[in-house]
Amino acid sequence: MDNKNKNAIGMIGLGTMGSNLLENIAEHGFSGSGYDIDTNKVDALNKLDSEKITGFSDMGDFIESLKSPKIVMLLVPAGEIVDTVIDQLKKHLEKGDLIIDGGNSHFTDTERRYKALEQKGFHFIGMGVSGGEEGARKGPSLMPGGAKEAYKQVEPILKKIAAQVEGDPMVAYMGDRSAGHFVKMVHNGIEYAIMQLISETYEILKSGLNYTDSQIHDVFKKWNEGRLESYLLDITRDIFAYRKEGEDTILLETIRDQAKAKGTGKWTSQAAMDLHLPVPIIDIAVAMRDLSTFKKLRTNASQVYSTPKHIMKSEDQKAFFSALEPAFYFAMVSAYAQGMHLFSRASQEFDYNLNLKLIANIWRGGCIIRSKFLKNIYAAYQKKPDLTHLFLDGSIQNNLQECIPAVRKVVSRTALQGIATPAFSAALNYFDNFRSESMPTNLIQAQRDYFGSHTYELKGKKGVFHSKWVMENKEEIEEKS
Ligand code: 6PG
Repeated sequence: MDNKNKNAIGMIGLGTMGSNLLENIAEHGFSGSGYDIDTNKVDALNKLDSEKITGFSDMGDFIESLKSPKIVMLLVPAGEIVDTVIDQLKKHLEKGDLIIDGGNSHFTDTERRYKALEQKGFHFIGMGVSGGEEGARKGPSLMPGGAKEAYKQVEPILKKIAAQVEGDPMVAYMGDRSAGHFVKMVHNGIEYAIMQLISETYEILKSGLNYTDSQIHDVFKKWNEGRLESYLLDITRDIFAYRKEGEDTILLETIRDQAKAKGTGKWTSQAAMDLHLPVPIIDIAVAMRDLSTFKKLRTNASQVYSTPKHIMKSEDQKAFFSALEPAFYFAMVSAYAQGMHLFSRASQEFDYNLNLKLIANIWRGGCIIRSKFLKNIYAAYQKKPDLTHLFLDGSIQNNLQECIPAVRKVVSRTALQGIATPAFSAALNYFDNFRSESMPTNLIQAQRDYFGSHTYELKGKKGVFHSKWVMENKEEIEEKS
């Protein structure tokens, strides 16, 4: 077969994501080949009613079916398996061919793979793919990173298969090397934070205000019709109406309260800590999933410690309820703001040259954290591409100012009632320190110097200092650094 009649792209890993993405590719007029070690999956692919897709169970035949320079996408679980597949592929591919890793790989793995492959003359793109199974089929948000020329090779396909919002494809070149997977990791960190905020809201409505499932459904429905409109609220609303045939209670009530995690939220917190850039709402979201797994311990403790009895009068309940929407808005904006702040730092540190406006733009559709608010983020970075923090954008600032009394009310009232709202609190506490010219960290400097001679700096003076803090022996010594 001559080159031009061969298939445009190959997919390794024919799980639901892989085969859905292939169907999406075919639907947009591109021919695709699929490969999986599981022959059942290959058979299933070949049974699809599409002339444009062919499944292979032999790696050599699969590669042979592709047009040169070849483009092969991997949708396999992150980790060692990606290296194993790449090693196999290297035996079949030629210089100039392109490998795309579309899984949730750790950005440091992508960095390593990118360097090793580019050195050998292959191209490598680490691409965040968001939107789950449905997104893969109907249009995901795509976050590719790597060599720009390699991106150009695959851009026509990606632009067609991505979600489209107001005529714009939800894909853009994110930056060099591992930039794509870094962006996807932070996307997931924000996803964790917003999911945690929604689940805290559920707890407030259920335990604090005694709302029924159907009332909770209505609250999320209403919120999703306003400025909070988002995919995560959209699915949450539906969850509160989902019953199995013949069952009285919603399915949610029967689901265990122990959350699983594949790790991308944790990676975001780890990376942020390595960069000394605080993302406390994400941190707490990771921690609360972890705490949820200690069911036995929690059950034991629940028998020892009681919940405070703090009954709200009904007019208080009304005022409290009306504070919830602005408090949620405040905390959600804070979660995005922390993620975007992390991008500014990572971009400098890793030389990614990230374009924050573009990131906000391609998150407007297809991905899990898509929301109406992303337009405001886009507008903020459009106005000021080097904006260091979203809180400093004039229009976002105006919106937040109005919400501050509400978030204070929610955090304080829930504390009195013994309802845990760690993500709301983290948002508020972060904000209260963020807006403080002075923090009590002078004391930390003093303590460190007291017990470990770690030195401190003085207001209005250059240099570092050390004191002999024991009273009878007071002395201040300037240290030359
Ligand atoms: C997406 C999702 C996707 C996946 C998460 C789940 O953007 O489509 O983020 O990547 O569902 O990784 O993550 P946890 O298992 O860690 O919750």
